[in-house]
Amino acid sequence: MPILPLRLGVNVDHVATLRNARGGARPDPVRAALAAIEAGADGITAHLREDRRHIRDDDMARLKAEISKPLNFEMAATEDMLRISLATRPHAVCLVPERREELTTEGGLDVVGQHNALAPFIDRLNDAGIRVSLFIAADPRQIEMAARLRAPVVEIHTGGWCDAVVDGHTEKAAAEWLRIVEGVALARAAGLEVHAGHGLDYQTAEMISTLPEIAELNIGYFMMGEALFVGLGETVRQMRAAMDRGRRREAARP
Ligand code: PXP
Repeated sequence: MPILPLRLGVNVDHVATLRNARGGARPDPVRAALAAIEAGADGITAHLREDRRHIRDDDMARLKAEISKPLNFEMAATEDMLRISLATRPHAVCLVPERREELTTEGGLDVVGQHNALAPFIDRLNDAGIRVSLFIAADPRQIEMAARLRAPVVEIHTGGWCDAVVDGHTEKAAAEWLRIVEGVALARAAGLEVHAGHGLDYQTAEMISTLPEIAELNIGYFMMGEALFVGLGETVRQMRAAMDRGRRREAARP
């Protein structure tokens, strides 16, 4: 299996969370995106939620206008979001499930249950030249349906595995890891580009970087927390180093 280069997408949602706590203009998520890129991020991710709790419409427009690297626009599959994303023309759209009462994106998109609604939606983004990514669990049925839906990319939800690692639930972590390893291989074999994200920190990012089929990691919350202590540039460099260590471990495998 050829080892793909591994991109780091930095999610700047929680810079906006902090800004919105006081309602002013600072800290600015666009400034964070520029600093992350300067330090080595390969792309920027932002999630325009229906309740606009962090990123707002003008943040998305400014990100698109001001950053030099690809913008990954995360959103729910609604007509309103489709209209905004088509007007913004990001490099990629990542479709995620969304519930207003959740603290963060809790599960993967149910592409099996929603394929009829998703198919025309994906077609319209494909037709506009926007790369569509489906955020799904590492579940064979979801992966097979994602491939049939003509989305070029899937992002595998790593949240359950990361929580189990952090909480020290070793058995659950091992079972979730196996599910991810198998899911990633299946997705790649089905011709999909494979991304992963949610809940990653230095340790889990290093570990998941050993999977040669993965092309991109999208990471936000942990990095913004670390940035409070060491700065965003240093956090990006440390995350990049963790990912590179993981890749080297894979390359060194007999
Ligand atoms: N990928 C997707 C699809 C997400 O919804 C999120 C959370 O916004 C992330 C990655 C990043 O997760 P975290 O902020 O936990 O690193």
